[in-house]
Amino acid sequence: MEVIIRPDSHAASVLAARLISNQIISKPSSVLGLATGGTMERVYEELVKLHNNEELDFSLVSTFNLDEYVGLAPDDPGSYRHYMNEQLFNHINIDLKNTYLPNGLAKNLKNECLRYEQKIVECGGIDLQLLGIGKSGHIGFNEPLSALQSRTRAKALTPTTIAQNAPLFPTPEDMPRRGITMGVGTILDSKSCLLLATGESKANILAKAVEGPVSSMISASALQLHPMCHVIVDEDAATELTQQEYYRWIFDNEPDWAQFK
Ligand code: F6R
Repeated sequence: MEVIIRPDSHAASVLAARLISNQIISKPSSVLGLATGGTMERVYEELVKLHNNEELDFSLVSTFNLDEYVGLAPDDPGSYRHYMNEQLFNHINIDLKNTYLPNGLAKNLKNECLRYEQKIVECGGIDLQLLGIGKSGHIGFNEPLSALQSRTRAKALTPTTIAQNAPLFPTPEDMPRRGITMGVGTILDSKSCLLLATGESKANILAKAVEGPVSSMISASALQLHPMCHVIVDEDAATELTQQEYYRWIFDNEPDWAQFK
């Protein structure tokens, strides 16, 4: 795991977008794992800029989102499909046929989860998985006690996650109480992971995930087991990390990071 601290959320999002862009440039047919939420909005804005200003080409890219709400249709404004179309897909040259999210309306959720796992494998696996961290410590909708080897499945959302996301719905009580999510094991199968956390509200849970013990109580801590995981944070989210000086030294001195300064 490598932690990179950037001065503010803008710089953190720009760096995350640059790493995604480098992945696409080095492999135009990359399979990206994508996340939704407030943190990612700035990353997608940067990717759209890279597409418009630097001709970043998504024509061969495939994407798999981490999660979707159970019971919401793709055109529901609260659905993650709607979010992805609005924030990213409608503004770049990706083929929508190559953008996958779990089907929240599937009659048989177990079959839908199996189908999603199979589709990821058929596409060759995820090259780069983008992740945010929830206040419950979740990645995707892997709420506390999600098995570290879990696969895509339907998961009940915790009160913490409901409190985090309900305000985004016109009628907060309408927020679904379950989501389909890639499992922690599915995420760990990705060839590389990129966790982005910004803002002081994430400082405490981020420090637990990065520097605390690996525990199913904090799903994001499982990323410590991944051999290629970058964690990008802004100053506000970094405040409770104990090894900040060391992380800063690496970014300032390791040759790999020179191109990003
Ligand atoms: C959503 C997802 C979640 C979010 C997390 C942070 O697809 O994967 O794990 O990344 O809840 O959300 P924000 O960025 O809204 O704080």
